[in-house]
Amino acid sequence: MHVLLTAGPTYEPLDPVRFLGNRSTGKMGYALAAAFAESQVEVTLISGPVHLPPPASPLVRTVLVETAQQMYEAAAAIAPLTDGWVFAAAVADYRPATIAAEKIKKEGATLTLELVKNVDIAATLGQTKRAEQFAVGFALETTNELAHAQAKLHRKNFDLVVLNSLRDAGAGFGHDTNKVSVLDRTGQVLDFELQAKTELARVLVRLILTRFSAAYA
Ligand code: CTP
Repeated sequence: MHVLLTAGPTYEPLDPVRFLGNRSTGKMGYALAAAFAESQVEVTLISGPVHLPPPASPLVRTVLVETAQQMYEAAAAIAPLTDGWVFAAAVADYRPATIAAEKIKKEGATLTLELVKNVDIAATLGQTKRAEQFAVGFALETTNELAHAQAKLHRKNFDLVVLNSLRDAGAGFGHDTNKVSVLDRTGQVLDFELQAKTELARVLVRLILTRFSAAYA
């Protein structure tokens, strides 16, 4: 079995020294890569800029990228060759409309940036998903969590969506622990305890393999 996994943030350049980014550390995605490898699954890990060493397993091939466009191109190149896709990256939804060739100088009292929408990697690849492939997405919501996550599952053609809780201390960006619920296409919701991201990754990999690996056995 071979899984495509996106992880970490994307950095969208503004000028030669600045970028727009987000607080994703990549910890959940890297833990998933390690957990898949522990289960003898081959992983192509496409990672935005993080401060983590690449997973050491020979089953994990790590491709380092910076922008959403680069992450999309790397993912699209490998996606058709894999059995499933896990989209754990926190992809920047927008990027600066232009990248200044020179450092932007401090001039007026305010500065307005024009942003343009980035490619939605999961949704775009979702349109090409074959019946025997699976896709797992992540969602971070602050209102109507379940309804929004369920809508995202259908919009992006996911088989499962992992809903991050923002309500629990210790969950989400930057923490070593996480608390999630997993939704499937039938509307079933599985709630998991707050636990170390490394342990949660093993639980999620077991769930994914139980649901989807029979077809490849
Ligand atoms: N995703 C992606 N490419 C993007 C944006 C998101 O592949 N350009 C993936 C993420 O990796 C995640 C899922 O889509 O698995 C949901 O991401 P999220 O940011 O919650 O969804 P958005 O579509 O950006 O919706 P919104 O920000 O409006 O909630």
